[in-house]
Amino acid sequence: MTCSTAQNHISAISAKLDRYWHLSTDNFFSLFLDDLLTCFGVNGGKHARPLEPSEREQLFELGQMYARAVIDCPYEDLLGQIYMDLAGRGHKKALGQFFTPNSVCRIMAEMSNYDMIHGDAFADLDVIRVAEPTCGSGAMVLGMLHCIKEKNPALLEKLDFTLIDIDRTCIRMAAIQILTNLLIHGDLLAGLRVYRGNALGSSSELEWFIGFQNYQDESVTEKVAPVPDRFVTLEKNLDMFFELAS
Ligand SMILES: C[S@@+](CC[C@H](N)C(=O)[O-])C[C@H]1O[C@@H](n2cnc3c(N)ncnc32)[C@H](O)[C@@H]1O
Repeated sequence: MTCSTAQNHISAISAKLDRYWHLSTDNFFSLFLDDLLTCFGVNGGKHARPLEPSEREQLFELGQMYARAVIDCPYEDLLGQIYMDLAGRGHKKALGQFFTPNSVCRIMAEMSNYDMIHGDAFADLDVIRVAEPTCGSGAMVLGMLHCIKEKNPALLEKLDFTLIDIDRTCIRMAAIQILTNLLIHGDLLAGLRVYRGNALGSSSELEWFIGFQNYQDESVTEKVAPVPDRFVTLEKNLDMFFELAS
């Protein structure tokens, strides 16, 4: 189940993507994801190809619509629902996965982490690492973040998430949703690591996508980006989000 405000945002964004789909030479959902990722410095903040002026205009409007949706609906899986909505509109060649609804993600997060959220489980740890090896659009992690922010927000800065998916569209959706929510709602995690690859294969074959680590630990050898640099990039590129949030 998705709340009606979220459903309105999801319907408006997918209707716009659907209208523009056939006017662009690319998969327009993919272009939309790449456009949002440029804000986070992926590919040096550049698009894979120069955009047509009309594409640029549509993507700018879509970015604003997405930012408004994240402001209104904190830590909801919006992009996954948009992706499924587009599949329902006949874009089945490009799409085809199904993700867990927001309300189910939240209740599962609370049930499976009850002693940590409401009690003192892991209270002696400075960092709590959480793995989501088949993250899809990041719905389960967003559900956990939503639940913790509401019920025990001090825990957020202890959490270090590792997300993996075999599908490039999925890791892009998951990374965008988590980073945009952290940015817009002013939250910080201990760490975030997003990989593309087979969660059942060797960890050395996972392909690093994006992330950060906000604490010192010599034993952690995975590739991480330092937080201060990343946030400088974000603040420079996401003026639009800040304007909307203020
Ligand atoms: C049914 S979706 C669920 C996604 C998410 N956990 C949720 O609850 O919304 C399953 C996801 O697992 C991914 N997947 C399937 N096999 C995988 C594998 N061996 N390694 C990594 N990801 C995999 C798929 O690409 C898909 O995004």
